[in-house]
Amino acid sequence: MKYSKIIATGSYLPEKILTNKDLEQLVETNDEWIFERTGIRQRRIVAAGEKTSDMAYQAALNALAMAQMDASEIDLIIVATSTPDAIFPSTSCIVQNKLGIKTKGTFDVQAACTGFIYALTTADCYIRSGMAKTALVIGADSMSRIVDYNDRGTCILFGDGAGAAILQASDEPGVLGCDIRADGAYNSILTCDGHLYNGEIQGNPYISMDGQAVFKFAVRSLTAVAKELAKKIGVDLADVNWVIPHQANIRILEATAKLLGTDMKHVVTTVEEHGNTSAASIPLAFDCAVRDGRIQRGDLLLLEGVGAGFSWGASFIKY
Ligand code: UT7
Repeated sequence: MKYSKIIATGSYLPEKILTNKDLEQLVETNDEWIFERTGIRQRRIVAAGEKTSDMAYQAALNALAMAQMDASEIDLIIVATSTPDAIFPSTSCIVQNKLGIKTKGTFDVQAACTGFIYALTTADCYIRSGMAKTALVIGADSMSRIVDYNDRGTCILFGDGAGAAILQASDEPGVLGCDIRADGAYNSILTCDGHLYNGEIQGNPYISMDGQAVFKFAVRSLTAVAKELAKKIGVDLADVNWVIPHQANIRILEATAKLLGTDMKHVVTTVEEHGNTSAASIPLAFDCAVRDGRIQRGDLLLLEGVGAGFSWGASFIKY
């Protein structure tokens, strides 16, 4: 088996909708400003007591149903999240237990908004090396838990959700190539540094962000990694049917598409309705576009993400 192939996708969104109008009641902002600067109209918010593992589990069930597969066939689970249920056990162990299965391995990956690309890359390596046959890869985040709803610079951006993909060993081309990058020198432009220490929270338990620095870094890094990976594996960017980017801000998506020479009609965008759901945003957008018929079997896809760390990465996939 030479490749890992995505055989199904799934997603989950919590019921509660937080609109720009709702945010007008919380901070000094307005729908026009938010939509013009970010492309976001609304985002979903977890219910009280609803956890990241609950959303991840629902997205997994949704993907399993599409695959018409029993959960017991999965031998590896990777959950990308920066809002885990607990410090330990890992959210993936909790998801494994909710699914009622025993996999060979299960672990979380923390690469903030790039988490899904990191998890996908890891699962692809496991499958191509023969260490796993069927991997469940999930991106899930409850960003509303770490958003300060007094900070208009960040609270307008984030939402909650989960997305999943099932990868299986295959002789046919699937994941064509992945590249993950990081540069810790940029760690201070996007942080949530709160942590437990001797029974107390130390640091800031909320997201803190230099929006303009993040914006510039995102456009630069997403463009570079996609171009370099395309060149390395011999893919022509003009042949890409769908770009599925991390849904950060419509202006980041547009600027990156322009630099890649991609028309926006080939870019999957869900940011208007979901906001930025961090590690969930790429698999959520992926699943939406599969279910509404935009993405078809045989399409060439470019997935790309960027987030705190700073971390970024891309993957080309023959779907
Ligand atoms: O996964 C990665 C996560 N992070 C991101 O992707 C964030 C990337 N950055 C961004 O999306 C944008 O930088 C923001 C949307 C956060 C901000 O947009 P901007 O165009 O960079 O605005 P700005 O920070 O330059 O602020 C422009 C003005 C300022 O007022 P003055 O100084 O010009 O009077 C802000 O105080 O807009 C003001 N402002 C707001 N006004 C209404 C900032 N936030 C708001 C707001 N509503 N929510």
